[in-house]
Amino acid sequence: ALRVLTGITTSGTPHLGNYAGAIRPAIAASRMPGVESFYFLADYHALIKVQDPARVQRSTLEIAATWLACGLDPAAVWFYRQSDVPEIAELNWLLTCVAGKGILNRAHAYKAAVDKNASEGVDEDAGISAGLFMYPVLMAADILLFNANKVPVGRDQVQHIEMARDFAQRFNHLYGEHFVLPEAAIEDSVATLPGLDGRKMSKSYDNTIPLFVPKSELKKLIAGIVTDSRLPGEAKDTEGSALMDIFRAFANAEESAAMAEAFKQGIGWGDAKTKLVEQIDREVAPMRERYEALMAKPQDIEALLRDGAARMRAQYATPFMGALREAVGLRDLS
Ligand code: TYM
Repeated sequence: ALRVLTGITTSGTPHLGNYAGAIRPAIAASRMPGVESFYFLADYHALIKVQDPARVQRSTLEIAATWLACGLDPAAVWFYRQSDVPEIAELNWLLTCVAGKGILNRAHAYKAAVDKNASEGVDEDAGISAGLFMYPVLMAADILLFNANKVPVGRDQVQHIEMARDFAQRFNHLYGEHFVLPEAAIEDSVATLPGLDGRKMSKSYDNTIPLFVPKSELKKLIAGIVTDSRLPGEAKDTEGSALMDIFRAFANAEESAAMAEAFKQGIGWGDAKTKLVEQIDREVAPMRERYEALMAKPQDIEALLRDGAARMRAQYATPFMGALREAVGLRDLS
């Protein structure tokens, strides 16, 4: 079977970018015949940015409920919390020992942090943890432990998947063909969903639209999307319009074409925003209801996650980790 795997970092509330860029395509993939899916909550990764335990736990619950509300069938896919699978942390070490430091120096998140320090005139590594630096190795362990073929992600994660391929190749070269080389699967229409300010929608830019805010709140947030100062009646550019890009992510080809035509005909920004709210709400409203019901029963979600990890470890993680330990000269503990 083709193996599809993806994760979301449990550092906040899921937003429209996570949904359109990763969750929606991943759930669609999980329904295709001949596909085995691995979807998880990346809470080891969350520790890089969040040192507030309550927030990590809250976010884990929210993201789990989001996957389920969006239609993930926990009986048909492997659904688990990363830290319930200690083999991931263990493989992280084996990969750390084959990962080139020079490659990690080029990782976007680390480089951005270094550049920011440089621009502020402080020591280039000030405030940067080794965890941030090693982030791509942990992500490679997530992917390689399950020999995933396809990884549905937004464009921002592609570099990490290329690094995972690189580490896998090095490991295979040294120890034999243990890993398949994973590929990113990118949903072209939403590769990077913009946020309220037009930059990539991201928790770190504080420009997100949470997926499951009440409709009234959704209206308020959408009212804040940046637009230019063109008046009703003046033709609008679809190119570079965050409003249009978000609309497209929630519309079919026909609806997108109709909206593009309305832009040309000079629809007012207020009207365009109203249309966008309706477009998003049509897709999100039924899921929002399920989400609220799920969030009311956290113990059910917890039980589901524990069960998923236990079954998945017994079938995959523990025996494969045993084989990998043996391959590098350690004792097989499985
Ligand atoms: P994270 O938690 O930042 O984002 C989760 C997923 O959402 C996608 N995404 C977006 N897609 C389109 N437009 C946006 N504005 C947008 N913002 C976020 C991300 O590309 C991602 O697919 N390191 C990962 C989590 C992770 C992972 C993995 C993913 C850990 N291990 C293994 C795949 C495989 C991350 O922080 O994603």
